[in-house]
Amino acid sequence: MKLEEIFKICIEEGIKEDPRGKAKIDKILKKRNEAYKKMEKEDKEFFDKEMLWNPFDDSRILVDDKRNIKNVMVGIDIETPEILLANELNKNGKNIDSVWAHHPEGIALIGLDKVMALQIDVLVKAGVSINQAEAIMQGRIKEVSEALSPQNSERVEQASKLLGINFLNTHTPADNHVHKYLTELFEKKKPETLKDIIKILKEIPEYKEGMKQKIGPMIFAGNEDSSVGKIYVDMTGGTESNKEAYKKLAEKGVGTIVGMHVGKEMKQEAEKQNMNIVIAGHIPSDNLGMNLLLDKVEKKTKLNIIEMSGFKRIKRK
Ligand SMILES: [Fe+2]
Ligand SMILES: [Fe+2]
Repeated sequence: MKLEEIFKICIEEGIKEDPRGKAKIDKILKKRNEAYKKMEKEDKEFFDKEMLWNPFDDSRILVDDKRNIKNVMVGIDIETPEILLANELNKNGKNIDSVWAHHPEGIALIGLDKVMALQIDVLVKAGVSINQAEAIMQGRIKEVSEALSPQNSERVEQASKLLGINFLNTHTPADNHVHKYLTELFEKKKPETLKDIIKILKEIPEYKEGMKQKIGPMIFAGNEDSSVGKIYVDMTGGTESNKEAYKKLAEKGVGTIVGMHVGKEMKQEAEKQNMNIVIAGHIPSDNLGMNLLLDKVEKKTKLNIIEMSGFKRIKRK
């Protein structure tokens, strides 16, 4: 299968699992297409046309020589050392057709702020008003956008081009899978205490691996016997929101946040609001998302996956 076809499967599957729902994403894409049509010719020149069909601005094919893809090297973070590693392995006959990252690079990295809007919908589902959710996220999105602007974003992409190694990343499509998976799991298992949450997480192979590496589930706020109350799964939408979001969630009756990572200020706010935080683990959660996504891809095309940069392939039926 070509890289473009593999990527298309990831985008479609990412949309299916998106907390905004397919109808809302269709609307977003329709709006983008209409705006593009009305755009002046000189603006069209700079418009990223990928945005017309792919709603995930943090996921892109960055290098593609259009070959058939069989051997892929998958990692959570891919930077120039990992590209050099792929090149070394190719010298030893590994024939890596593409390197596949979870975290974004290139224009996908610069697009990270754009996917954060999906957190508005997650906040609304938890009971926060749309206006408050928009106000909270718009401020945070601007902050992330400004922080990304000085990045030397093309560095890794250029390295892979120089070495003739294909390169793609899937960020929010994978994180959407974790978000949905854990949301449904907690709805089904109804944990009562934080200890129950940890127990549920520890039954998932990616978190078991996380435990072995000492980066697995941890209680950041609250204790094992704390009551769970209403759970807010904070697993997708680019990057962290902010303490304002946590304040509003507490007001709306959320008792426990289950997330990938959390900033100091957010943790302090949760404690102030008597809200618990369970950190499922960043890399184990990213592994879970990538594995769930790869299961879908591998239903359509069998890949030979070389694990690296924190990624371990665990297949599900
Ligand atoms: Fe992630
Ligand atoms: Fe991540």
